[in-house]
Amino acid sequence: MPSATLPRFDLRGWDARDIADPYPVYRRYREVSPVHRSPAPADGPDTYYAFSYEAVVRVLSSRDYGRDPGTAPPGAAATAPVPVPAVYRTLRTVVENWLVFMDPPRHTELRSLLGAEFSPGVVTGLRPRIAAIARDLLARLDGRREADLVEDFAAPFPLLVVSELLGVPAEDHGWLREQALALQEAGSTRSRQGGGGYPRAEAAAAELDRYFRREARQRLEDDRGGLLTLLVRARDAGGPLSMDALVGSCVHLLTAGHETTTNLLAKAVLALRAHPEALAELRSSPALLPGAVEEFLRLDAPVQAVTRWACRDTRLGPYEVPRGSRVVALLGSANRDPERFARPDVLDVHRPADRHLGFGVGIHYCLGATLARAEAEIGLGALLDALPGLDRGRHRVEYADDMVFHGPARLLLDLTAPP
Ligand code: HEM
Repeated sequence: MPSATLPRFDLRGWDARDIADPYPVYRRYREVSPVHRSPAPADGPDTYYAFSYEAVVRVLSSRDYGRDPGTAPPGAAATAPVPVPAVYRTLRTVVENWLVFMDPPRHTELRSLLGAEFSPGVVTGLRPRIAAIARDLLARLDGRREADLVEDFAAPFPLLVVSELLGVPAEDHGWLREQALALQEAGSTRSRQGGGGYPRAEAAAAELDRYFRREARQRLEDDRGGLLTLLVRARDAGGPLSMDALVGSCVHLLTAGHETTTNLLAKAVLALRAHPEALAELRSSPALLPGAVEEFLRLDAPVQAVTRWACRDTRLGPYEVPRGSRVVALLGSANRDPERFARPDVLDVHRPADRHLGFGVGIHYCLGATLARAEAEIGLGALLDALPGLDRGRHRVEYADDMVFHGPARLLLDLTAPP
């Protein structure tokens, strides 16, 4: 079997150097086989890792794979439908109501309800506010000698945009970020390794549950617009949305629309610092920015991996995959597959916007993709304008210990370098 020549693949336990640049690791596996099997360490199901573009698209587009492992044979069926231990009850209820963990028909119904607020028209209407949020944050860097690009810009920016979209008060954003980060911790590879993120995440889920229930009750009395009001109205009109689903959706959008965009922006800045010629081109031709954003999403995907379960016995690459198996689609690896992209390791802001997998593919394709593209284009444009020395001076980067939501936890930039 292909994997016999390589160590068992796992997304946990990576050292800092490989986290910062996982692509040589993926390449080693992908060159041996498009798919590798990692036998379960205990009595759980085996995991199959899809490395090639073709295998990743197959997993995410085929009905052979889904979100609910409940169809698994006895033994494997004991695995939770959402990746949260049952003892953390509030966290579990919140996460069970995330669109991304649903299968049709529940998924189809909720997606069409939420989709209304993510249409190109709605995003176009938000663009002036997005630009103002970016400008305000960057104005705070005036006169500073050093900035943490993550803390000072890349994190608060998408969070403020999502708060605007939901229609919750902007002054709550600092608190919302703390709770979102605590939740994220539960999903991180470190926590899954036993790093203890779950108790914090449970506490954050309880806080967020209280917060969104209270906000929802207020929307019944005063109509402030925003997605939260839309959901409250849908519920009031006798729609299929339970209060748990309403709260779950708000928390989902808060987390899904936050860390991902933060990572895209921070990694785009790192890529531009490594390629000053591309940065100079974007400065002189801002019309290249939308294409460049697609290239950043391809070259260094903010979400490196997504998980599914085999709903029936099926075949993937060289393997017969039994029903109930865990299957991990490595978006980051697929986006560097030379069978699909010419010179895949090269940043090319002129590359035709081919179908990269940064936003996934299939029924769970990112609901916020249009919004995320607008945020990235506006946010990067504002950074290039506000920080003429973006490519000069020293930087220091520390990656988060997470191989799924992948990106820097800190990115310190010296702002004193002369332009
Ligand atoms: C789904 C990436 C921004 C909301 C996804 C998926 C990916 C992804 C890869 C598919 C997950 C899967 O198949 O399991 C990204 C990236 C972003 C980003 C790279 C930023 C650069 C956003 C934003 C929002 C959002 C701004 C909303 C505010 C969602 C939702 C889903 C999703 C709700 C679930 C869709 C479904 O299950 O039908 N995203 N995302 N994302 N994303 Fe994003």
